[in-house]
Amino acid sequence: MKTTLSVIKADIGGFPGHQSVHPDLIKVANEKLSAAKKSGAIIDFFVGKCGDDLELIITHTKGVDNKDIHKLAWDTFVAGTEVAKKLKLYGAGQDLLSDAFSGNVKGLGPGVAELEFEERISEPVIVFMMDKTDPGAFNLPIYRMFADPFCTPGLVIDPSMQGGFHFEVYDTVEGRKITFKTPEEMYSMLAFVGSRSRYVIKRVYPGPGNKVSEKEAVACVSTEKLSQIAGQYVGKDDPVAIVRCQSGLPAVGEVLEPFSFPHLVAGWMRGSHQGPIMPCSMKQATPTRLDGPPRVVALGFQLANGTLVGPADIFEDVAYDYTRQKANKIAEYMRRHGPFEPHRLPEEDLEYTNLPKLQEKFKGRFSKI
Ligand code: F6R
Ligand code: MG
Ligand code: MG
Repeated sequence: MKTTLSVIKADIGGFPGHQSVHPDLIKVANEKLSAAKKSGAIIDFFVGKCGDDLELIITHTKGVDNKDIHKLAWDTFVAGTEVAKKLKLYGAGQDLLSDAFSGNVKGLGPGVAELEFEERISEPVIVFMMDKTDPGAFNLPIYRMFADPFCTPGLVIDPSMQGGFHFEVYDTVEGRKITFKTPEEMYSMLAFVGSRSRYVIKRVYPGPGNKVSEKEAVACVSTEKLSQIAGQYVGKDDPVAIVRCQSGLPAVGEVLEPFSFPHLVAGWMRGSHQGPIMPCSMKQATPTRLDGPPRVVALGFQLANGTLVGPADIFEDVAYDYTRQKANKIAEYMRRHGPFEPHRLPEEDLEYTNLPKLQEKFKGRFSKI
């Protein structure tokens, strides 16, 4: 039996502002998914949150891109939006960009990461959820966990990993994709994925000789670009990712290691600033300071025939206190730049904000030098 793990998320209203998810939205999502579990439509679920994003973690046997599962998530978001509207939560229904569901939530606003696989004897998975940033924020950590031997000793020590990993990379501007093989094409891949606003790592596959089949993706990142869908700024994508761990794949600790460095990501206030990503627990994932700094939460599960054993709220651990302190120091340093780059994003990345309107307003006032 193959298990599918689907993580589908949306911001359907924040409280207060864009800070967190109201408990009533969690409640309504739990009710909806409980009913689906009872009816046998899904195996198991967990409703999580990160900042103002409601995160539906669902297991089933229907495969990726399944219409019933996407409809269940969509209906859950619609039901949550009704509650959000009653409570006048901020941006109620923000990420539901269309009224009409047509078989798949992709392109309608919600973010999706899904993996289908044959469960191994033991199947540890980690679901990462980010707020106040975009999918490119996963490039650095995913690259490091699967391709950097200074992060993942298994690449050097575990014979199963000697064949490296294959990375599927999306070009979000031209709508095309490419697969890079590491370690042999590592330098070329970095030339692309270093441009994280355009090239995003979508999936990772095991290389030759791995215990896990080369055909089975072992990591997946949500890459929906809300701004490109909506044609105007409706918030950052606030991506999610799923990573399978251990036994030929990076160990749980190797998968977490990249997050000990609070790297700079695009997002934060008005989706227009560079700031450090702060690993924290679900409870701590409430972007406050200037609507930030951006957050990442890691929920660990063991899968047991589709049942989600967990979650372990991993970044709750004291081992990440130091990273949080460092993130606060970097946040303070970046903030001192105010409206100047590199704190504020460069012009081309502000394409969907209010800046183009200002440029239009002052267009006539410019004269030739
Ligand atoms: C960033 C984000 C917030 C808002 C900001 C302004 O992803 O969601 O930082 O951009 O609070 O929001 P509005 O324009 O809705 O007042
Ligand atoms: Mg919001
Ligand atoms: Mg959000």
